Amino acid sequence: MFDLPVLNITETALHDNEQGSPVFDMLDMPNAPITRATRKLYVETYGCAMNVSDSEIVMGVMHKSGYVMTDKPDDADVILLNTCAIRDGAERKIHERLKHLKFYKRKRRDLVIGILGCMAERMRDELITEKQIVDLVVGPDEYRALPQLIAKAYEGEKGIAVKLSRVETYDDIVPLRTEGISAWISVSRGCDKFCTFCVVPFTRGRERSRSLQLIVDEAKQLWDSGFKEITLLGQNVNSYHDDASNQDFADLLARTARAVPQMRIRYSTSHPYDMSDKLIETMAEHDNVCKYVHLPVQSGSDRVLEAMNRHYTIAHYIERMQKIKDVMPQCALSTDIIVGFPTETEEEHQMTMALMQEVRYDGAFMFKYSPREKTKAWKMGDDVSEEVKTRRLSEIIEQQHQISHEINQTTIGTIERVLVEGLSRRDSTAWQGRTDSNKRTMFTHITNAGELNAEGKTAGYVVGDTVTVRIQRATSATLIGEIVLNS
Ligand code: 5AD
Ligand code: SF4
Repeated sequence: MFDLPVLNITETALHDNEQGSPVFDMLDMPNAPITRATRKLYVETYGCAMNVSDSEIVMGVMHKSGYVMTDKPDDADVILLNTCAIRDGAERKIHERLKHLKFYKRKRRDLVIGILGCMAERMRDELITEKQIVDLVVGPDEYRALPQLIAKAYEGEKGIAVKLSRVETYDDIVPLRTEGISAWISVSRGCDKFCTFCVVPFTRGRERSRSLQLIVDEAKQLWDSGFKEITLLGQNVNSYHDDASNQDFADLLARTARAVPQMRIRYSTSHPYDMSDKLIETMAEHDNVCKYVHLPVQSGSDRVLEAMNRHYTIAHYIERMQKIKDVMPQCALSTDIIVGFPTETEEEHQMTMALMQEVRYDGAFMFKYSPREKTKAWKMGDDVSEEVKTRRLSEIIEQQHQISHEINQTTIGTIERVLVEGLSRRDSTAWQGRTDSNKRTMFTHITNAGELNAEGKTAGYVVGDTVTVRIQRATSATLIGEIVLNS
């Protein structure tokens, strides 16, 4: 899984024409409390990229039922929070948010508020009984039922739909994507790995793959509609399997890369146990597959890895990393690490520190262990104190900071191809984008102004262009440079 660096993503306005949108069926129902022509939906998304992709499915389902999207909660007839349950902190955020939403509900008695996603699955009716303002609780495999559940909520009936499915992949739903140049395509749902710390197999259910052909078709449609980058998403993409054609994830990646040769292709997340030579070689064979691998290690100790049910040893992990570097020397690497897993000793923590030094990741997502009900680790207790977890976390963050800084210094003077994402959020006079290796890059000046590229473009650039940037400075998180020539 891939945790976005920013946890709280608010899905924003979609480009719907409110005038001629179809009228929602509910309006024909007796006692329907809302009489305006088109209902408005506001969706707020928390957690991983999979949730962002799921919110697009939710918006696709709701759009088909006649809803238009709004980015203003005070404007909405329905507010849906797509939630995350991976750590306690993620859930606390939702509880806080619900406190604020109370005010909207007071202002608008007919406002419908729903909780979707992993927290809905984990807490189920608890959410409805504890939180008076919640009308709906809908798990990740029940989004098709949303229009009916919302219709019932307008009649005052609270709804819970949390059944997990072995087959639901939403293959036929057209996700409603926000405008942009990067899109997520989910290739599989659920997870069968049952890492002992992780709640995902309980909240998202068993693993199932989408049809390879439909994924490739979706990639082509995205290219045709102006997207420049896609990320193939799954909790563990390596175990993707298309039964109809007997093809695995490496086959899917190769087919997609050939179908959209100009599109940048990323994927997330891999599991070290299933990171095959075939996948590594497929990445190397295709120029448009980004040379960036996110391979969560979780811990540097074999004993802890076994207690986590991770199915690999550090020796296996290092061997996989070495293979990636042998085949793609320029490949950037990142990982996930948990500190303070039950029974983790100081020596084992030092093993994690040593592993980070050995691999020298470009980046890492680092977390304190958070006990989750239902998981096996829950029964092991939570014996590493908060104080020790905090100290261990700051040690690994500090070390990673330094490694990232050192690696990024080596890019100074090099030329990188950067996909332009827009103006920098930090400095509105600068632009920002990402390198193939997923490094955020800021750039301002144009050295070769007036020079023309092959397409006759001048050095002016727009969002979605790929530009060539000479790196001049670097921090641990950002490369800073100047455009050499628009390409
Ligand atoms: N506590 C802390 N971190 C967790 N992760 C998953 N479950 C937990 C937990 N209970 C982390 C893992 C995973 C990432 C997405 O979240 O590192 O790879
Ligand atoms: Fe959770 Fe492990 Fe599955 Fe990732 S592979 S979603 S950490 S159970």
